[in-house]
Amino acid sequence: MNATKTVRLWDFPVRLFHWSLVIAIVTSWWTNQELMIDIHALAGYCVLALVLFRIAWGFVGSSNARFSNFLTGPRKVFGYLMKLPTGGVTELTYPGHNPAGGWMVAVLIVLVAVQAISGLFASEDTFLFFDGPLVAYASSDIARTMNFIHHTNINLIYIAVGLHVFAALFYLVVKRENLIRAMVTGMHHVPESIAAGFMQIRFASPVLGIAILVVCGLAVWALVAVARGG
Ligand code: HEM
Ligand code: HEM
Repeated sequence: MNATKTVRLWDFPVRLFHWSLVIAIVTSWWTNQELMIDIHALAGYCVLALVLFRIAWGFVGSSNARFSNFLTGPRKVFGYLMKLPTGGVTELTYPGHNPAGGWMVAVLIVLVAVQAISGLFASEDTFLFFDGPLVAYASSDIARTMNFIHHTNINLIYIAVGLHVFAALFYLVVKRENLIRAMVTGMHHVPESIAAGFMQIRFASPVLGIAILVVCGLAVWALVAVARGG
């Protein structure tokens, strides 16, 4: 059996982003009915702040968190997918998102962003009497369209998250590669033969990450406060 080495894979801001996003999405989903619309909106604002943070981190974060690192051309994606049925762990293990997973990450981020943004314009006027903070600034046509998007896009999120979790479990069970633990602890166990690739990752300062996250949180809070106050 190949000797393995423990290497650092994901920085703290990426992990904080991921699990906070999961909690915020599940909370918005859980609270969309009943009389918990305020919590629903609050969790949605958190999603928005997290997405803004992740976009910034995709440009200034650790090397393997950058979009330029994991959004690759169709040739690489196709080549990777062709290797998937036969390739062993060594061949398929990347010091970041793999070429197909990278695009899935982009899809997930766009879908949750669309959900949170459309929520700002969504309204419910039969029993909750709740208007998203930007409803007052939109024409009724735009508000109606956004409401429609908010109710439809959630189905795409179900599908994308379903595929995403399925892929993580597929790696765990079939490929015997625990990507989930790596997303929790930041550390990954890889064959010694490919450990050098992981040593190349340049980690950005976690303090910078937290600072950007706080700024994104404040920006969303300010947007909502000004929109509600105005
Ligand atoms: C609401 C549900 C979820 C959403 C929206 C979501 C979204 C994302 C996003 C955007 C990333 C990219 C992280 C980054 O680069 O910043 C990611 C990565 C990841 N997620 Fe999730 N996730 C969800 C649930 C889960 C769950 C339940 C698991 C575990 C079973 C999981 C396991 C992972 C793993 C292992 C990665 C890293 C993939 C890789 O190594 O390329 N996710 N997820
Ligand atoms: C990414 C975060 C969000 C998720 C996952 C989410 C999810 C949902 C879901 C599943 C529904 C019910 C759709 C249906 O019954 O077909 C819903 C309805 C709604 N959401 Fe969101 N939402 C999010 C963010 C927001 C935000 C930020 C706001 C406003 C501040 C908002 C306001 C509303 C309103 C007003 C409704 C209509 C309630 C109704 O028609 O019963 N949502 N949302």
